[in-house]
Amino acid sequence: MTNGRRLHLGLNAPPLGSSPYGWRRAGIDPLSSATGEFYARIAVEAERGLFDALFLNDQPTLHPGWETSPAPLRLDPIVALATAAQHTRWIGLVPTISTTWNHPYNLARSIASLDRASHGRAGWNVVTSYNPKIAANFGLSRLPSKQDRYARAAEFIDVVADLWRTWAPDAIIADKQTGVFTRPGGVRLVEHHGAYFTVHGGATVPPSEQGLPVLFQAGGSPEGIALAARYADAAFVSTPTLESALEYRARAAAAATARATDRPRLLVLSGAALTLASTDEEALRHRIELEGSDTDAVGVGHIAARLGIPIAALDLDSPIPLDLVDVEARRRDDSEGFVNSIVHVARTGRPLREILRTGVGHLAVIGSPEKVADIFEEWFRADAVDGFNLHFDVVEEGLPAFVDEVVPLLRKRGIYRHAYDGGTLRSHLGLPTPQW
Ligand SMILES: Cc1cc2nc3c(=O)[nH]c(=O)nc-3n(C[C@H](O)[C@H](O)[C@H](O)COP(=O)(O)O)c2cc1C
Repeated sequence: MTNGRRLHLGLNAPPLGSSPYGWRRAGIDPLSSATGEFYARIAVEAERGLFDALFLNDQPTLHPGWETSPAPLRLDPIVALATAAQHTRWIGLVPTISTTWNHPYNLARSIASLDRASHGRAGWNVVTSYNPKIAANFGLSRLPSKQDRYARAAEFIDVVADLWRTWAPDAIIADKQTGVFTRPGGVRLVEHHGAYFTVHGGATVPPSEQGLPVLFQAGGSPEGIALAARYADAAFVSTPTLESALEYRARAAAAATARATDRPRLLVLSGAALTLASTDEEALRHRIELEGSDTDAVGVGHIAARLGIPIAALDLDSPIPLDLVDVEARRRDDSEGFVNSIVHVARTGRPLREILRTGVGHLAVIGSPEKVADIFEEWFRADAVDGFNLHFDVVEEGLPAFVDEVVPLLRKRGIYRHAYDGGTLRSHLGLPTPQW
């Protein structure tokens, strides 16, 4: 049953696609992800498909591989989305920014500015970072522990939320006759003394049309789910199967005791990596063409790194050897959300080659528009998810195909919007205007 719910869609970028060869295709600008025009183009295209949001994943570190790939290139997400905002009218704009490497004052100011500049379309995807390489960019030799990162994240969000409430929505009178700009009591200063931050003062940015930016969270450990349950409007999750998506929903529901009773249920958006073509066979051929002989090598390398085992321990025709994996250590040292999703599919005992076709982090669909629509509808009607955050192997090829061919099918099935019915990200997601 959908009970009047509508499927939500996000576009997840950069880089310019998950295929390592995408940049070499005709018509693709190899420098895309380091240009403002790219973010504007994909935002316009996603808006043509009436997507809820353009969502930028991010890590403040230079990924290796720059000798053969532009994948390490990316702009600061706020700047990229501010550029996209100027070329669009409706679509939401959600940067990923870590609470581990920033200060709440700067972050509150940047996101609120994006929210004002886009007339109420900003969100913030809260992460705590798992990549140890980032630490060196900030003068540290290692990441703080996960517990420490999540404790800092909770206090960070509290401070940001207070700063965003500095100006009451009706604070500004701006009466030119009397010279009164702000009504008495309309501005509330922040007095915060905590374990991680001390902030005395207030924000310079008043609320936008949506009141407060929308909070997303990504991270599937118990600490991550607890953070989402307490603070977030929506969670971005890595659930490669319907069963794992249902399991996440149950875990989020169990953690919801920490959620204010007047808040709607946490929205869940599952990552989905799509390779589209007119038939399933053609889609598989297309995938092989895009990744060449590396189709499986890329996935094998990813699994080996996440599980902390040598590539040589993996065989395409055998199940993943979980007995070699210290699962608890990997959960502690990596993103538990991603580790859990690999362990989940590994436990099915299916051969690795088969697993690589259906997803080892996010749900992966290699197939026709009907196949994608079938899976999306099944997951949505089972109430496993509220929507999907989409990756494409070459975003500027896959996204237009999705908008032209999958979106009409989702509409026909009665689960996707025909028009935006509000101008803010909050309204796209069906979230209420926050109380002050
Ligand atoms: C679906 C998903 C997407 C994520 N996206 C990012 C990202 O873009 N940047 C980042 O630094 N961390 C990202 N993370 C991980 C977060 O940094 C997370 O706070 C941290 O690794 C702890 O993860 P855990 O709660 O899953 O153990 C993501 C995690 C998940 C599950």
